[in-house]
Amino acid sequence: MMRILILGIDGYLGWPLALRLAKRGHEVIGIDNLSTRRFSEEVGSDSAFPLPKPEDRVREAKRHLDVDITFYKGDVTDYNFLTEIMKKHKPDAIVHFAEQRSAPYSMKDRDHAVYTVVNNEVSTLNVIYAVKQIDPTIHILKMGTMGEYGTPNFDIPESIYVEAIVNGKKDKIIVPRKAGSVYHWTKVHDTDFLLYFHEIWGLTVTDIMQGPVYGTRTEEIVDESLRTRFDFDETWGTVVNRFCVQAILGIPLTVYGKGGQTRGFISLEDSMEALTLLLEHPPNHGEYRVANQFAEIYSVRKIAEMVKNAGEELGLKVEIGPLPNPRVEAEEHYYNPERKVLPSLGFYPKKNLKDELKNMIKDLLPYRERLERYKDAILPKTKWRM
Ligand SMILES: NC(=O)c1ccc[n+]([C@@H]2O[C@H](COP(=O)([O-])OP(=O)(O)OC[C@H]3O[C@@H](n4cnc5c(N)ncnc54)[C@H](O)[C@@H]3O)[C@@H](O)[C@H]2O)c1
Repeated sequence: MMRILILGIDGYLGWPLALRLAKRGHEVIGIDNLSTRRFSEEVGSDSAFPLPKPEDRVREAKRHLDVDITFYKGDVTDYNFLTEIMKKHKPDAIVHFAEQRSAPYSMKDRDHAVYTVVNNEVSTLNVIYAVKQIDPTIHILKMGTMGEYGTPNFDIPESIYVEAIVNGKKDKIIVPRKAGSVYHWTKVHDTDFLLYFHEIWGLTVTDIMQGPVYGTRTEEIVDESLRTRFDFDETWGTVVNRFCVQAILGIPLTVYGKGGQTRGFISLEDSMEALTLLLEHPPNHGEYRVANQFAEIYSVRKIAEMVKNAGEELGLKVEIGPLPNPRVEAEEHYYNPERKVLPSLGFYPKKNLKDELKNMIKDLLPYRERLERYKDAILPKTKWRM
């Protein structure tokens, strides 16, 4: 049994992870400032599934799963608050999800860019300094993104350093990164800070490079009251989740540009499985471990076809409606990330996109009227070139 502090426990990944870890007998403590709830309202949207208040979520978890989860409302950028909770609960591991995680939100204007940088960088620095101050042996499990690398023409390794020849001389360099939004750059900076402080203070870190997550279910979501948030608008919805809602509402699936943008995807259930394995099999003390976390690689165009097929099998009429790309990104490119760390811990994906799409649409269909209310927030408005 471990004591695990989840920063960002109220989020899409944080809540099901809390349920999973608590169900496995770990002591789970969580912090959240509820900013994603507020920002989703700010863009005229809401979670597809209505979310109970945090205290009600905790009560429902007790009722349905017989688990105790401790929730604190507060901000990870508040150092005194964070360290008080850490001193009180003495965690063995900290899962750091507490960041502004929408690329379009970070690209809206200067204010949103600055907010994203301050929130994400200060929260990561606070975690680093708090671990050093309170107990440097705490395992920091930091959620980064495959998007730190962009879409390079080389195979994306699963290590932070590579050997390279620069100007004719061999050296060990940090793998080149090329993020595609202010949000993604904050993840690059997180990695740089974590790596730097790991090197000077010997911190133990797992830096997860995760691909986009999709899905509505995990094994512990056994009742509607235990659902995790599900975003589908242009700002907060990740592509698969967004397309499923578009299919339900009869909005042509918004493939941006040529649709050859290719990423490694993972289901919510498999993401929980991978995170649990990484927590229960921590790296050696003082080690910096990078894990590329994804299950299947698809282009956006292929995903749109799969959502169309899944929707049509369930009786929906689904069209694909390519749009000019509001983002600045390669629309056809090479993509080959390495993935060895999770398989070495026994990870194999239990879900696949094709089957999961039908489950997602079935889970969302009863909420069609609610989704209709937020229809205006679905089409892309945020443009990278403004
Ligand atoms: N969902 C994905 O597809 C995906 C893919 C790759 C990486 N990630 C990363 O995983 C992490 C979790 O993502 P998610 O999809 O659950 O996002 P989310 O927005 O649903 O969850 C993040 C939570 O952190 C909270 N938060 C943000 N800043 C905070 C602060 N300063 N103090 C306290 N709480 C704060 C938010 O209120 C929210 O509940 C994020 O760091 C995200 O960048 C997500």
